[in-house]
Amino acid sequence: MDKVKWGVIGAGRIARAFCTALAEVGGAELYAVGSRTPDKSAAFAEEYGFTRSYGSYSELLSDSEVDVVYIATPMAAHYDICIEALEKGRNVFCEKSVTLNAAQLRKILTLADEKGLFFCEAMWMKCRPTYLKMKEWVRSGRIGEIRYIKADFSNFVPYDANDRLFRADCGGGALLDVTVYPLTLVHDLLGVPDEIQSAAHLDNGIDLSSSLILRYASGAFASIDTGFELGLRNNAVISGTEGSIVFGDCFFCSETAELFDRDRRLIERYDSPARVNGYEYEIEEVHRCLASGLLGSELIPHSATLEVMEIMDGLRRVWGMKFPQE
Ligand SMILES: NC(=O)c1ccc[n+]([C@@H]2O[C@H](COP(=O)([O-])OP(=O)(O)OC[C@H]3O[C@@H](n4cnc5c(N)ncnc54)[C@H](OP(=O)(O)O)[C@@H]3O)[C@@H](O)[C@H]2O)c1
Repeated sequence: MDKVKWGVIGAGRIARAFCTALAEVGGAELYAVGSRTPDKSAAFAEEYGFTRSYGSYSELLSDSEVDVVYIATPMAAHYDICIEALEKGRNVFCEKSVTLNAAQLRKILTLADEKGLFFCEAMWMKCRPTYLKMKEWVRSGRIGEIRYIKADFSNFVPYDANDRLFRADCGGGALLDVTVYPLTLVHDLLGVPDEIQSAAHLDNGIDLSSSLILRYASGAFASIDTGFELGLRNNAVISGTEGSIVFGDCFFCSETAELFDRDRRLIERYDSPARVNGYEYEIEEVHRCLASGLLGSELIPHSATLEVMEIMDGLRRVWGMKFPQE
């Protein structure tokens, strides 16, 4: 394959960060952008140097020159766009949380499988060097058996009734927006929990904050605090029988990780190289998968995305939180 021709759907906040990285990654061609508004699409294309701009998502999805579509819309729009993209023969890289619920994701995975197309959740955290270093330390037994994980993710987000974060019809709430990160981390290291206890603050049909304890039959457990209304450090600690790993603040995009022994002595510190803005690693992972003919990423497996989605469905069931589409 020559350069990978990217099509970007939704010219919003995260698309900007993603395209800043896309422009710097060798092998990526900023081919087309699609927005619901033609003028917005044209302005975005001009700003980032895309060859084509489309004034609707469907037009972009119909362009057979596109090698892979990056979907950067609010969660509630992901399902329809993913289905249309796959029906039209496009490979798909879709922002987190990938769907509103596990049922939608199962349909997407089945279709991707039938069509023999690449599909992956844009869980950038799992592709970042610091995260991969943490996994290497864990895999090689540096902290022994994991007994406990603590991970937080909450900033103060000013309430705005029009913002997708606070709109149930957009898939709003902290769960799909931020809780998905610590849940993905814990699931990656410990798997599906045997029991979850939780408390959530719901308002207007969405969760503004929650506190979770995930328990495992082995005796291991994890503690997660997240939301839009708590000022937390957003850090993570992974504690094992032989030591612990501590991420810098904002663990999901932390540039540093430290390895401590049982006596809390610093054994090793990892600093990730400064490149673009952190989204370059997931882009390179997609390129690697497409070049190898893989239909999913080994770093972000379909099974993991689905199991995390199922955990989030379970939490919403307990909280009585339903999206209007459900
Ligand atoms: N990986 C990360 O670090 C990261 C960070 C932030 C967000 N995200 C994820 O990226 C996705 C988008 O988040 P965002 O913050 O970029 O969202 P946003 O700015 O609110 O919206 C993104 C774009 O989606 C399009 N859109 C389609 N239907 C819409 C609707 N009903 N309401 C509003 N916009 C709609 C709009 O583009 P057009 O007007 O051009 O059609 C809008 O500009 C979410 O899945 C989020 O979880 C990921």
